[in-house]
Amino acid sequence: MPSTTLPSSDLDLFATDTLLDPYPVYASLRDAGPVVRLNRYDAWALPRYEQVSTALRDHETFSSASGVGFTDGLNKLMAGGVLASDPPHHSTLRVILSRMLMPRSLRDLGPTVTAVAEEIVDRLADGTEFDAVSDLAEAFTPRFVADLIGLPEEGRSQILEFGAATFDGLGPFGERTPDALRKQKTLLDYVSTTAARDRLSEGGLGARVWEAVDAGDIDEAAAITLMMAFLVTGMDTTILSLAAAVRLFAEHPDQWDALRADPSLVPTAYLEVLRIASPVTVFSRVTTRDWECDGVTIPAGDRVAVMFASANRDERKWGDPERFDITRNPADHLTFGVGIHACVGQNLAKLEAQALLTALLARVRRFEIGEPKFVVNNTLYGLSRLPCRIVT
Ligand code: HEM
Repeated sequence: MPSTTLPSSDLDLFATDTLLDPYPVYASLRDAGPVVRLNRYDAWALPRYEQVSTALRDHETFSSASGVGFTDGLNKLMAGGVLASDPPHHSTLRVILSRMLMPRSLRDLGPTVTAVAEEIVDRLADGTEFDAVSDLAEAFTPRFVADLIGLPEEGRSQILEFGAATFDGLGPFGERTPDALRKQKTLLDYVSTTAARDRLSEGGLGARVWEAVDAGDIDEAAAITLMMAFLVTGMDTTILSLAAAVRLFAEHPDQWDALRADPSLVPTAYLEVLRIASPVTVFSRVTTRDWECDGVTIPAGDRVAVMFASANRDERKWGDPERFDITRNPADHLTFGVGIHACVGQNLAKLEAQALLTALLARVRRFEIGEPKFVVNNTLYGLSRLPCRIVT
């Protein structure tokens, strides 16, 4: 273990208070150094933009094969899946998903996404109060991932609960971990029975995963893990980002006016939402060799927290990072990660968000919001409830 000058911190990344309001803790860690020993978790933290970006691009040094969480239980359960693998196995899995999530492949979905967005916004724009999480974001997003996979209608409503539990279970072992593991096992049952091969619709991503089994590219266990990863990653993340958009535009009416004045800013405005309110806060990697940064050496075999959300507010990278500014165009934000594990579903998330923001632009003059409630989740940040009223 290196010198006495080693930057270390007793701050708790996973305490409930931190999960509810993480950004002050992230700022303290960034101040502590580019590499900080987390005394409570036998792990290192990379809180600044430059090191997060470097680590994510260097998958040979920063391996995902031992899992991207902070506890053995879920890391073992997810091992060998697309999130928790290195090349060459990762490349085999990734190619199966990526083809169906390219902008070209998603083009046919565009009109449906727009129609659903308009239908939901029309319904909510009658001046009565609704919850922007359950009545807007959750009413909108899950069906697209489920349809894309080709899932049967039965059992769809449980998927959201499984997804959030998996993200939570990636944190260090704690009082919520047994529940997360139980839900992960229920998700496994769901994918193996209710959403088994013969119940998936033709031409969907699920069917394509099973074709890869027939072609001998992957085995059945890998097919099931791939489906689970897809279900888990595709829903809560996008939902949190959409609810965050409503909150940010409600709190910054000048930014909403600017977007109404120039709707061509919708794509970059969504990137700014993702930068300032990153739904996935932190994953981990394990070093395969010693890695030196600013005089500190992380030894081979250590777990490292890769802090996406903190990097996105690093004052060394962004001017006035706490300011929500839709003209910023933060194209190199790290909300979707970067490198070989960069989010394979980001085109779908962008398609959904752009459709929803466009539908809102057409009807909403102002959002009036009440007291928000936040999720308590080890690797996700955002709203669990946002009372809202639309002023047309
Ligand atoms: C705002 C929405 C989203 C956010 C913030 C998000 C965030 C992320 C992040 C940070 C990673 C990188 C993980 C790593 O480096 O270890 C990732 C990977 C992934 N995402 Fe997303 N995601 C979103 C939406 C989606 C959607 C809609 C889907 C599916 C339709 C999806 C599927 C995946 C998959 C399968 C991976 C694993 C890729 C790999 O390991 O190669 N995500 N996502």
